Amino acid sequence: MSLFNVYPLYNVTPVSGKGVYVYDEKYNEYLDLYGGHAVISVGHSHPKYVKALKSQIDKLGFYSNAIQNPLQVLLADKLESLSGCKDYQLFLCNSGAEANENALKLASFKTEKSRVIAFKNGFHGRTSAAVAATDNKNIIAPINAQQKVTILDLNDIDSVKIELEKGDVCAVIVEFIQGVGGLDEATADFFEQVDLLCKANNTMFIADEVQSGYGRSGKFFAFQHYNVTPDIISIAKGMGNGFPIGGILIHPNIEAKFGMLGTTFGGNHLACAAGLSVLEIIEEESLIDNVNEISCYFLKLAKTIPQIKKIKGKGLMLGLEFDFEVGDLRKKLIYDYQIFTGGAMNKKLLRILPPLTVRKDHINQFFEALVDALEEE
Ligand SMILES: Cc1ncc(COP(=O)(O)O)c(C=O)c1O
Repeated sequence: MSLFNVYPLYNVTPVSGKGVYVYDEKYNEYLDLYGGHAVISVGHSHPKYVKALKSQIDKLGFYSNAIQNPLQVLLADKLESLSGCKDYQLFLCNSGAEANENALKLASFKTEKSRVIAFKNGFHGRTSAAVAATDNKNIIAPINAQQKVTILDLNDIDSVKIELEKGDVCAVIVEFIQGVGGLDEATADFFEQVDLLCKANNTMFIADEVQSGYGRSGKFFAFQHYNVTPDIISIAKGMGNGFPIGGILIHPNIEAKFGMLGTTFGGNHLACAAGLSVLEIIEEESLIDNVNEISCYFLKLAKTIPQIKKIKGKGLMLGLEFDFEVGDLRKKLIYDYQIFTGGAMNKKLLRILPPLTVRKDHINQFFEALVDALEEE
């Protein structure tokens, strides 16, 4: 059977990983500043993480949500203490799209309304309501187009106000730092006004932290750089360090009812073991402090390179904007310098999404390669 050919592939075959590096079948070493698309948070094959998964699968890999699962409670408690999101409730699922799908559905249940406000260049996943709230016509099938979504410009607070005051909007969904779109951010004033407008109009404010959460922005959540209180926070990527797990944090003002949300695989034992060990490692290794230290160091070096026209993002969710398209540069970095970086909808942007364990010597390795590669351009 052939594979359904939806991904343009780089000709690299990683077979193992350790920390910030992955290795191909010929033992070539690649510096991973892409983290499998911001997924690798605590590093490839972290010993504590590997041990936690192995010991859990030895005991019980899966049982459904029909029984008591104390691992879910441990995960929720640890997440509450590390994130500072006190009294929020946790619903577990398996991916970022699913997290947003559940977030939007919950907003609609709570408000009994159905229109969604989302923003230009936003990305929220590929399931029905999530993809309809994503600003990319190419990935919205006719079946998804039945959702009622209005896409507005970031920072256009007047339009947000006009739309919310129409009274039919269940949710405003936003990435506090846009990922796939290219690291754009709205102003603090915009985010804080949106928060207030949502509260005044019985609309749920959804923070899509699928990519920016779990310390990547230099705080546990990117929304915590602002004075806002989201009703729902969606999480995935860094949460499992590669094990598929997602979830939503739900403000105490939204009450659960039996059957309102549900999933077969979400919150299974193995996923919880992965999620719990990620949080323990983030705490024990002070990884959020590391994000801030390495981010400062990275920015200092980036500012010395004249070809970089703009530096975007926060923490270790960064973008380097050039005045040319970076496709060839990314290829050169992979094939000639063995360094993975990311791309974006903005074709002139090189994305940097390393494991949160990255060190200064890795950053030096990247900039030495970048300077060399740019000389050859
Ligand atoms: C901000 C954001 N939301 C949602 C998603 C969808 O996550 P998943 O691919 O796990 O469904 C992504 C994936 O890139 C994302 O960056």
